Amino acid sequence: MTPTTVRFDPVRRLRGELTPPADKSISHRAALLGTMASEPVRVRNYLDAADTNSTLAAMRQLGALIDTQPDHMVIRGTGLREAAPAEGTIDVGNAGTLMRLLPGWLAAQEGRAYTLDGDASIRKRPVDRIAVPLRRMGVHIEATDERFPPFIVHGGRMTGIDYTLPVASAQVKSCILIAALTANGETTVREPEPSRDHTERMLLSAGVPVHRADGAVTVLNQDELVLGEEIVVPADLSSAAFAMAAGILVPKSRLLLRGVNTNWTRTGFVRIAQRMGAIIIGDLEEHGAPLTAGEPIGDLDVTAGPLVGTTVEPWEVPLAIDELPLVALLACFAEGETVVRGAAELKVKESDRIQTVVDGLNALGGQLEATDDGFVVTGTGGLRGGTIHSHGDHRLAMLGAVAGMASKEGVEVVGMDAADVSYPGFADDMAALLPSS
Ligand code: S3P
Repeated sequence: MTPTTVRFDPVRRLRGELTPPADKSISHRAALLGTMASEPVRVRNYLDAADTNSTLAAMRQLGALIDTQPDHMVIRGTGLREAAPAEGTIDVGNAGTLMRLLPGWLAAQEGRAYTLDGDASIRKRPVDRIAVPLRRMGVHIEATDERFPPFIVHGGRMTGIDYTLPVASAQVKSCILIAALTANGETTVREPEPSRDHTERMLLSAGVPVHRADGAVTVLNQDELVLGEEIVVPADLSSAAFAMAAGILVPKSRLLLRGVNTNWTRTGFVRIAQRMGAIIIGDLEEHGAPLTAGEPIGDLDVTAGPLVGTTVEPWEVPLAIDELPLVALLACFAEGETVVRGAAELKVKESDRIQTVVDGLNALGGQLEATDDGFVVTGTGGLRGGTIHSHGDHRLAMLGAVAGMASKEGVEVVGMDAADVSYPGFADDMAALLPSS
């Protein structure tokens, strides 16, 4: 398929309200845990995008009955230990979260084996990070070159482990916690730094005892999983972050982003942007915010303003991991230098995001240098514009679009269709924020 090329011209200002699309991470978890549950669950505001549709297809393949209505869906799951023997390969598409979380459940299916595969980008993303702890729990896994998809998970009996993650990864932590539900005894996962905690919150709100203390999460074996009657998925902070960045960079802008998930483990980008001088007002402390599946929801008010460079420390990285490309973009417009350290994980995202972000923004007139574990940006107060390639990476495509709206000459994004992975209506949502005259 030929990638779609879309041009984003400089805009005068952005004004208005926007409810960003549903949270991708929470949608994946609602579908997966809903399929593992013994009672039906209604899910509202499930993300309708390529990644989360891959998860629905996989869940149906594994025996879930999913009734999709215009404003909600009902998932009738199979129970913890009764996934169907999948016909053929499970295709995870571009979805790294599905690829890393699902094996934690497949590992519990005694006597059944499952093959997982995905697109060209997924075939470059390592699965040894989940294979190592799952093998310690007793699971037999065969991966291509020991590290990559396609890979086969052989279900069997598991035993709980005490495992320290080599890098903070919510996907790996979640895989182990999901396996822990069916493993004998108790399982503890220790994280070097806090990462997003949606799995813990969803399990806790389902009544599963999840003990959290000093960077360790412990879960006990369960007979069954019963989620609440309904999960309402909040808007995705990571998708909201593109509108936020546009609102910060395009002069005279003012945006209200509604119903966004303000879970502290997801709002690292907001804190970094505020430190750079962005005016973002909203309840970021989770005080008394309405909750759904344990997740707080709030509105964020964003105003354009001048920026200064900052240093992003390694502990902040997991809390803003998907927004670091946007930190690089803000940094191009800031005064002074911005340094991001401890972010080598960017190399194994949907693209090598150290290289693709640095090359992409340099091609638009930025001054960025890649380092082993991040990048250094010298702010020049703006970007000229030009052409950027998404490399099939949804966040790169939207980065280019925002860069274009804030640039002097506009940006052509080659491969804009990649945005459909997490935010199919992105270009229309941005257009709706343009002044009418
Ligand atoms: C995700 C966790 C992050 C993030 C990804 C979604 C999740 O990955 O980059 O987009 O839903 O758990 P890691 O936890 O592997 O860094």
